[in-house]
Amino acid sequence: MNFEILGPLRVADGHVRVSASKHRTLLALLLCEHDHVVTVDQLVDEIWQENPPRSAVNLVRQYISHVRRKLGSSGASATSSRPELVTYSSGYSLDLRGSYLDRNVFEERVAVAQRAAARGETDSCVVAVTEALDLWRGPALIDVSCGPRTVAEARRLNGRRAFAEEMRIEAKLAVGRYAETVDELAALALVHPTRERLREHLMRTLYALGRRAEALEVYQEGRRALVDRLGIEPGTTLRRLEQEVLNDNLALRSRPRQELVSRPRRSAIPRQLPASHHDFIGRVRETEHLVDLLKPSVGGLPLVALSGLAGIGKTALALHVARRVRDSFPGGQMFARLSATDGPVPTANALLSFLRALGVSQSDVPPGLYQRAELFRGITADRQILVVLDDAGSESQVRALLPGPGASSVLVTSRRTLTGLDSAVHLTCGPLDADTGLAILGNLAGRQQLAQDPKSSSELVRWCRGLPVALCVIGAKLAAERGLTARTLLATLSGNGQLDELQLGELDVRARIASSHRRLGAAERDLLGRLAASARPVAGGDDLPQPLGELTPSDEALLEGLVANHMVEVLPSPGTGAGYFRLNYFVRLFIEQPRTGR
Ligand SMILES: Nc1ncnc2c1ncn2[C@@H]1O[C@H](COP(=O)(O)OP(=O)(O)O)[C@@H](O)[C@H]1O
Ligand SMILES: [Mg+2]
Repeated sequence: MNFEILGPLRVADGHVRVSASKHRTLLALLLCEHDHVVTVDQLVDEIWQENPPRSAVNLVRQYISHVRRKLGSSGASATSSRPELVTYSSGYSLDLRGSYLDRNVFEERVAVAQRAAARGETDSCVVAVTEALDLWRGPALIDVSCGPRTVAEARRLNGRRAFAEEMRIEAKLAVGRYAETVDELAALALVHPTRERLREHLMRTLYALGRRAEALEVYQEGRRALVDRLGIEPGTTLRRLEQEVLNDNLALRSRPRQELVSRPRRSAIPRQLPASHHDFIGRVRETEHLVDLLKPSVGGLPLVALSGLAGIGKTALALHVARRVRDSFPGGQMFARLSATDGPVPTANALLSFLRALGVSQSDVPPGLYQRAELFRGITADRQILVVLDDAGSESQVRALLPGPGASSVLVTSRRTLTGLDSAVHLTCGPLDADTGLAILGNLAGRQQLAQDPKSSSELVRWCRGLPVALCVIGAKLAAERGLTARTLLATLSGNGQLDELQLGELDVRARIASSHRRLGAAERDLLGRLAASARPVAGGDDLPQPLGELTPSDEALLEGLVANHMVEVLPSPGTGAGYFRLNYFVRLFIEQPRTGR
C-alpha cells in the first residue's frame, strides 16, 4: 500500500479512500509517527486541540476502527505489504510493514545525496536529490487540518525540501551547470528574498553567465529586502561578492572542474515489470520461499538464480514473485529479457535500456560495456531496486547487470544452472503438480469441457508431465478447435509426431527445446544423442531410468553440463556401480521426432 504526505495526503490504492476530515487528521498523525505508539491523549489533542468534546476518547476509538477497516479492505493480498493499525494499552501504532511512505523515500534519497556530495560525486548527488524532490506534490499535508504535532512535522518537511533544493543547486553549480540552474535560482530568490546564500548563488551564476549587471541588481534587491524587513545590512560574504563583481574579478568565472560521470538529465524511478496477461496458478511454496529470499537487506545483495528447462515456467514464476515484492523496492523495478528467439541479447543493449529507464539520456550513455556497467552500478548504489534478469545466458552477463551496493535484490532465471555465481542462492524450477496442471488446463479450455470427460482430462495433464508450456498449448487448442475433445487429443498425442501437435502460435514446445539444444556445445549435443539412442524408445510413454553404463571422464563432464541444463537427470544407483539416467521426456521427443514437413 502507498501513502503520500509530501503534498495533499493520499492513500494511493485504488480501493481505499479516507475522506472525512477527522479521519484524515488521525491518519496523518499515525503516518508521521508510524511504527511508534501514539497515545489517545495525543490523538484527541491533534483532532480537537483546546476544545475536545466530552465523548472525544470514544470518538477516537470509532475513528480508529473506521481507518483500520479502510486499510484492511485494500486489494493487497494477505501476505503482501499491508499496513496494520495495532492497538496498545496506551494508544495505537500504524505499523507500515513494508508499505510505501513517500517521506521515508525522500529522507533516504536526501541522505544518499549527502553522502555522494561528501565523496565529491556531484552527479550522483544531483540524481538522488532530484529523485527526492520529484516526490513532492505541494506543501506537506497541505489539505489536512493538522494539529500541533502534524503541523510541526509538515514544517520540518517543508524545511527539508528547501534544504534539498539548495543542495541540488549547489551541486549543479559545483560542476558549472549554470544555464540550467539560473531560472530555478531566480524563482527561489523571489520566494525567499532574505536568504543570503541563495542570493549569493544567484549572483555567482549570473556573473558566470556574463550577466554582470543583473548580478549587481540581485545584490541591491537583496539588500533592500534585508534592510526593509529585518533592518540589517547584507553579511560580509555577500558584500565581498558584490565588490568582486564590481571589480570584474574573472576568477569567479573559472571553469568548473571536470564532471565525474556522465550526468542524467532527468531522474526516474523505473517500473519495468511487464503486465501480466494470464492467471498464475499454484507454486505456493516456491513463491513464499522466493519472496523471503528476495527481502531487501541493507549492505547485502540478495541474488537468487532460478533455473529449469525451457517452458517449465521460470519467467512466469519470477514475474509473479516480482509483482508480489515490488512494493518493497521504492527505488524501482527493472526487468530485462536476456534472450530473444534468435539468440542472446547483447549485455550492452540490456544495460542501455536499464540506463535509459533510470533517466540517462541517450547521448549520455557511454559506448563501452564496461563503462555502462559502471555507470549502472553508480546510479543504483544506495538505492533499493529489484532487478529481474530473465533467461540469462551466462554468469558474466549477470555480473555486468548487478546493481551497485545498497539494499537492492536480484532475481535471475536461466535454462542452465549458473554454478559460477557463487554468491547466489540456486533454485530449480521443476514440474507443476497435477492439480495445478488441471487448473491451468481448465482455465484455458473451460472447466465444463474438462468436466465432460474427467478421466481423459486427467490423463492429458499427466501426459504433459507438469510442463506448463505443454499444458498451455493443449488448453488453448481445446478452446480454439471446434470438435476437438480431451479424448481425441489424447489419442493423437499417443501416436507419433506429438511434438508437432504441441504448437500454437507463439507457444511452441519444439521451438523452445530447439533453442536450448542449440545453446549446448557440440560435444554435449553428441552425448545427448547417444544417450537418447541407448535408451528404450519412448513410445510406451514410460520414463523409467536407464543404466548409464561406462562413461569416459570427458563424457562425465559433458553429462554434468546436460544435467545443469535440466535435460538429463542422473539418479544414483543403490549400492555401487554406475548410476542411472533419465532424459527429460520432451527432450527425448525432440531428439526422436524430427520436424515433420510443415
Ligand atoms: N504457474 C503457472 N500458472 C499459469 N501459467 C503458467 C504457470 N507457469 C507457466 N505458465 C505459462 O506457461 C508458459 C511457459 O512458461 P514460461 O514462464 O514462459 O517458461 P520458461 O520461462 O521456463 O521458459 C507461459 O505461457 C506461462 O504463462
Ligand atoms: Mg522464460
